[in-house]
Amino acid sequence: MVLAAGKGTRMRSDTPKVLHRVCGRGMAWLVVDAARAAGFAPIVVVVSPDSGAIKDALGDQVTYVEQAEPLGSGHALQQAEGALRNAQSVAVLYGDVPLIQSSTLRRMMDLHLAEGASVTLLTATLEDPDGLGRITRDSSGKITGIVEDNETDESTRSITEVNGGMYCFRGAWLWPGLGGLGASSGGEVYLTDLVAAAVQGKATVVSMEAPGSQETLGVNSRPQLAEAERVLLERIRERWMTNGVTMPDPATVYIGHSVELDRDTTILPNTHLAGDTQIGRRCEIGPNTIISDSSIGNGCRVVASMVEMSVIEDDVHIGPFSHIRPGSHLEQRVHIGNFAEVSRTRLGSGTKVSHFGYLGDASVGAHANIGAGTVTCNYDGEEKHRTVIGSGAFIGSDSMLVAPVDIGEGSSTGAGAVVTRDVPPDHLAVGIPARNRPKRKKKRGGDP
Ligand code: UD1
Ligand code: CA
Repeated sequence: MVLAAGKGTRMRSDTPKVLHRVCGRGMAWLVVDAARAAGFAPIVVVVSPDSGAIKDALGDQVTYVEQAEPLGSGHALQQAEGALRNAQSVAVLYGDVPLIQSSTLRRMMDLHLAEGASVTLLTATLEDPDGLGRITRDSSGKITGIVEDNETDESTRSITEVNGGMYCFRGAWLWPGLGGLGASSGGEVYLTDLVAAAVQGKATVVSMEAPGSQETLGVNSRPQLAEAERVLLERIRERWMTNGVTMPDPATVYIGHSVELDRDTTILPNTHLAGDTQIGRRCEIGPNTIISDSSIGNGCRVVASMVEMSVIEDDVHIGPFSHIRPGSHLEQRVHIGNFAEVSRTRLGSGTKVSHFGYLGDASVGAHANIGAGTVTCNYDGEEKHRTVIGSGAFIGSDSMLVAPVDIGEGSSTGAGAVVTRDVPPDHLAVGIPARNRPKRKKKRGGDP
């Protein structure tokens, strides 16, 4: 069960707290993902009534239960009784503790089952326990309960062992136990009071120390959100470097949670790889590059450029200072130089756009050469139109291709041509507006 119905007041945000992103993924998504990877099923998420955005983010792989009013984490738990009444064991996770790893959850559940416990909880020992529930123990070291931060006194405030906010419960104990919880001084029903209740009822309470304090980092505020981002980023970079990716200056590289990289690729400084992005082998990406939601083949080089929602095949070179916009597809060995903008355009293998220009809504064959300053005039103010350029075409510098227009295979345009009519294959279009004439026979060794 993932609790995600709290108000998240301390974020000062119009967005539900658990949807704030860490490395490109909403916190609740990360928690659900860890639960799923730990083998927990079904997954029930407790949400507030205005939680359309959370449902959009998590989809229909999980079950939703509503908590009409945020009356505390214990009250949130009560709402899920109908959905989980028959479960033998119930893991309860907070949607705002995004760094938890599935291996830790699995170990906690295994310990819980092995000990036959009624309650198992994850704890951490922190230098600064401020804001968190403190674990109290008796003189023999046995847990006696959890004291919430706002209910601490002189003696409990200095306790550094805290509640990590992850629990396993024995189902048959949990639901009757929940009914007995009272409200705190602030009117909320605290799920943490279950621990003292279990101790009083002589039920077995087991604790497990989290492997490092970072996994239990709870995000209640934006500074804590930034801290979670820092930790997860470090983890992601470490993972890719271990898998064979070179990063000379990892601290300046941003890699989203869902990005995949292959071995012998180098990510140079100030590079952002975001969204659903895959990058193949032996690529050199950066410096100063942004790639989002794109697939990049093997042996590519992207320098100081931006690539969005596009497919880049093997051995493509891009940049510096170019922009590949959504819906583009660059086939093998395409070369994009500086200051080129390519949008919703497919470029055939070996085609070159070496200098500044704009290709939008175009389809270009293989081994075409697009001269400096070429523009596809794709927009007439109302609609966008397509430009088709055949294989082997040679588009002269500063050509304006007024779409819809079709440049035949092997055709050329003269410098400065404004092409308003289709050019048949093997023709040369010149002038304003361009006139078509058959190409002269190729001279030996030279271009037409
Ligand atoms: C909670 C724990 C605290 C622990 C800390 C770890 C309680 C009472 N306290 O404190 O012991 O050290 O987490 O990070 O649980 N929620 C609901 N409905 C509600 C209230 C909360 O669904 O009515 C959800 C929130 O969305 C959140 C989670 O429960 O995901 C925890 O609530 P939060 O207010 O963040 O508790 P903390 O003060 O952080
Ligand atoms: Ca919290």
